[in-house]
Amino acid sequence: HEEFTKVKNIATIELGKYEIETWYFSPFPPEYNDCVKLFFCEFCLNFMKRKEQLQRHMVSNWHRKCDLKHPPGDEIYRSSTLSMFEVDGKKNKVYAQNLCYLAKLFLDHKTLYYDVDLFLFYILCECDERGCHMVGYFSKEKHSEEAYNLACILTLPPYQRKGYGKFLIAFCEHSFHLNLLFSSLTSLYKKEGKVGTPERPLSDLGLVSYRGYWTRILLDILKKHKGNISIKELSDMTAIKAEDILSTLQSLELIQYRKGQHVICADPKVLDRHLKAAGRGGLDVDVSKMIWTPYK
Ligand code: COA
Ligand code: NA
Repeated sequence: HEEFTKVKNIATIELGKYEIETWYFSPFPPEYNDCVKLFFCEFCLNFMKRKEQLQRHMVSNWHRKCDLKHPPGDEIYRSSTLSMFEVDGKKNKVYAQNLCYLAKLFLDHKTLYYDVDLFLFYILCECDERGCHMVGYFSKEKHSEEAYNLACILTLPPYQRKGYGKFLIAFCEHSFHLNLLFSSLTSLYKKEGKVGTPERPLSDLGLVSYRGYWTRILLDILKKHKGNISIKELSDMTAIKAEDILSTLQSLELIQYRKGQHVICADPKVLDRHLKAAGRGGLDVDVSKMIWTPYK
């Protein structure tokens, strides 16, 4: 039903203190077809056609007021001014749907998840005295058949290139590792196949971000490691999928094919050069500040 309406209709949105130009089509409900600008409540993510509606929405004595000063759900991380909220799409359906409408404006090829029930959303916020302002998010399927540990990732344009994307990726990986650790302490543990990977296709920006992350993790290990190491061993150590390791090392031209086998060439000088090119790790996730309860 979507095919004939894929013309970018919403050109700009207002969100918190920002006016943001959109990138792609997003399938807002038909009553918004005539809009070129939408006004989002930065906390509940409801969107409105007119500025006055948003202003009334923010005023407390209005019957459709917004009570939120942060995303719904549980705050599962706080360090300095950064907070992460975990939102269950089933418990906060409207918020999750609003988030998907918003995110699609910046995502080209992802299908919008109408079935938000099946997903968890991790909302990263910068907090000040006015509230917690969303800078980006990632989502993941509660139970992924394909071992995808990340479905969608977005840093809102005003916040891009500041290291938040790296933070979101690292956070996602840490939570994945904590889940593995948890399940290894319980009967849920299965030894096989404990690797995760982001859902495909990745956008160009998604791929460079992930490549940078994988490069830093893998090259740090290779630098410290003495003797031979296989892709399988790297995968076991990092829970990064073997294919992702191979393609990352290949893109760095660190893989040679000898006698029917992949060989990793780890000249320290070459590794240092690549590590430098991969950029800094960005904002660090302080794992001790994560309040993690695995989803059951
Ligand atoms: N041009 C070139 N490289 C870019 C880039 C751009 N516009 N944006 C990010 N990168 C690369 C850089 O290598 C950067 O590291 P550096 O700043 O140290 O050079 C690295 O990606 C990560 O930067 P970071 O600041 O941590 O990421 P971000 O907060 O800008 O977020 C995305 C990265 C992918 C989440 C963001 O670009 C985004 O939301 N894009 C739209 C949605 C999308 O495509 N999501 C992925 C779907 S699979
Ligand atoms: Na918000």
